[in-house]
Amino acid sequence: MLTIQNVSKTYSKGNVKAVDNISLSVKKGEIFGFLGPNGAGKTTTIKMITGILPIDEGEITICGYDIEKDPIKAKMSMGFVPDTHDIYERLKGIEYLNFIADVYEVPSDVRKERIDKYLEMFDMKKAAGQPIKSYSHGMKQKIIVTGALLHQPPLWIMDEPLTGLDPKSSHLLKEEMNNHCANGNTVFFSTHVLEVAEKICHRIGIINKGRIIAVGTMDELRKSQDSSLESIFLSLTEEGSGADA
Ligand SMILES: Nc1ncnc2c1ncn2[C@@H]1O[C@H](COP(=O)(O)OP(=O)(O)O)[C@@H](O)[C@H]1O
Ligand SMILES: [Mg+2]
Repeated sequence: MLTIQNVSKTYSKGNVKAVDNISLSVKKGEIFGFLGPNGAGKTTTIKMITGILPIDEGEITICGYDIEKDPIKAKMSMGFVPDTHDIYERLKGIEYLNFIADVYEVPSDVRKERIDKYLEMFDMKKAAGQPIKSYSHGMKQKIIVTGALLHQPPLWIMDEPLTGLDPKSSHLLKEEMNNHCANGNTVFFSTHVLEVAEKICHRIGIINKGRIIAVGTMDELRKSQDSSLESIFLSLTEEGSGADA
């Protein structure tokens, strides 16, 4: 579904090697949690997966399509929720959703049904008629999530999706992630909320200083029966810093 092979990225500004030779493979039907401390390289990796940043070395494929050689097909296969909410502020929610549905070529009868379903679910029916600039952070997030799911992408990618959501919206989003996977699709998301990752992910990858330092199911990552993800995460990321010091 998603393969990342020996991918590296250095930002010329500051000469930072943000992603250092990482490889990952995410299978169909999986919820994969991408964890790491601030500045670990999560957003940089996600920007390369989604074709926002060019890849320095290595390759990334989505549903078999190379993001750099076959960008349109690769992008049509995914839905993306970025960590920022720079969104078309002057559009009304409904105008934004119709615009996104046009971009992803969702037929009008299908789009209406899906838009109605999500607006209802996220309690956004009334807000959809208002300009996005009047929305709170959580409301912008809900409109972006809806837009990302309108074409029912096989791969759903989200960068820190739960940040700023109230408990109800966060619960709904987690449920939608489960539904998406239960329908045979795949979810890849970054988070620093370890409890969420522990609860909903089938597999977890931990990145630190641009390198993948652990990948596996919770059971595989657990060193002993009683380790929480938090203690595994802290010990691994601290070991990483120790080795570099
Ligand atoms: N546009 C940029 N220019 C220069 N350095 C950057 C840029 N974006 C991120 N970085 C650096 O790359 C590293 C990884 O950042 P990022 O991928 O945003 O991490 P994360 O999402 O895990 O917090 C950090 O050291 C960060 O300072
Ligand atoms: Mg980030």
